[in-house]
Amino acid sequence: MGKADLQVTYCGVKLVNPFLLASSPVTDSQEMVARGFEAGWAGAVLKTTTHPSEENSIAYPMMAGLDPGSSLVGLHNTDLLSDRYIDEMCEQVIWLKAHFPERCVGLSLMGTTRAQWEELVRKACQAGADLIEASISCPQGSMVEGDEQPDGRMISQDARLTEKVTRWAKTAAGRTPVVVKLSPGVTDITRIARAVKQGGGDGICAIDSIEGIVGVDLTSFAPLPVVQGYGTRGGYTGRAVKPVALRCIADIAGAVDLPLSGVGGIYSWQDAVQFLLLGATCLQVCTAVMQHGFGIISGLSDGLCRWLEDGGFSSPAEVVGRGLGKLVQHEAIPHGIKVVASIDTELCIGCGLCHVACRDGAHQAIFFKQDRQAVVDRQACVGCGLCVQVCPVPGCIQMVND
Ligand SMILES: Cc1cc2nc3c(=O)[nH]c(=O)nc-3n(C[C@H](O)[C@H](O)[C@H](O)COP(=O)(O)O)c2cc1C
Repeated sequence: MGKADLQVTYCGVKLVNPFLLASSPVTDSQEMVARGFEAGWAGAVLKTTTHPSEENSIAYPMMAGLDPGSSLVGLHNTDLLSDRYIDEMCEQVIWLKAHFPERCVGLSLMGTTRAQWEELVRKACQAGADLIEASISCPQGSMVEGDEQPDGRMISQDARLTEKVTRWAKTAAGRTPVVVKLSPGVTDITRIARAVKQGGGDGICAIDSIEGIVGVDLTSFAPLPVVQGYGTRGGYTGRAVKPVALRCIADIAGAVDLPLSGVGGIYSWQDAVQFLLLGATCLQVCTAVMQHGFGIISGLSDGLCRWLEDGGFSSPAEVVGRGLGKLVQHEAIPHGIKVVASIDTELCIGCGLCHVACRDGAHQAIFFKQDRQAVVDRQACVGCGLCVQVCPVPGCIQMVND
């Protein structure tokens, strides 16, 4: 079996592996990014910065979890920009490139006027940033000054403005690649992706956090996290957003011919492979690092390497987009082939969860005998698969051909 090489090229930038630290608190200082690089991350997109004329004040606390604790299904934040403005961030880019010349250092930027975008981009390029990520998808709002307000709360919800801002950034960036980061909060993300291409963007990063409200405090009646009695909409990230991120990557990959950076809910090498299969060239991680630290990179890269080798692939690039052909419209998936649930009596712990779910959420096809043994009525079972999802014992229930 050949050895796989994890190197990839993203927007012309060579990466030692496909894993980048996403623009977020994990990339807010050169010291943190340096530790990430030492752990093995191929690059980082430094936390979004702006022009000093822009107000940037953060209210704390700024995080609330869905199912907080070790499972942490999703993380909600009301974080805004880095508290370092452009010049300080450029100093960090210079330091990081001097100390880690073979790693990719990107800088995420957010402006409000054409002049500001151009100044921010020029400074980042002069500092030696390998790529610019245009942040036009922050759920706390991303705007342009003047009459041209986006059709939505973010520039990336408006195709015309997305194209315009992409062009401003690309014109100022010259040969430095401009990647545009998109929000999933749109009716049709392919329209926005096409606008990026039209505006001259070199790549697309998807997804930014999903605008949401993670919960409401039952004492103060304010959305979480409660800040002095009030709350606000925030950005939702982590495990729970992976399905949305995968769908966006697949949609964009099918619509435009641009390199994609997949981000949203990547915790394991299996997650990473799924993003590659649906069209991502490289991958970014934020919440998993916030939860488990920079050290997760070894599991991500070792797992990806082993999976590639086991499949006879020599590089991640060989599998990019290979799953897209299997993604079809609903009417095109094979219909009418009967499958039924099969319960392994040795593994069954008699909890009855499958019986209840089937009785009240499906087709009343699983009976619960006196001895707490679940039994499938193969005639009544339509093969929906709900029982497999609720069973707490891995492998106990399987769907088999009738
Ligand atoms: C606390 C926090 C702050 C973030 N700040 C930024 C930011 O400044 N710029 C940006 O482009 N994305 C920002 N993000 C979004 C992440 O880069 C990423 O797109 C999102 O978290 C989804 O990936 P994940 O599920 O791996 O966290 C932030 C995310 C979190 C959790």
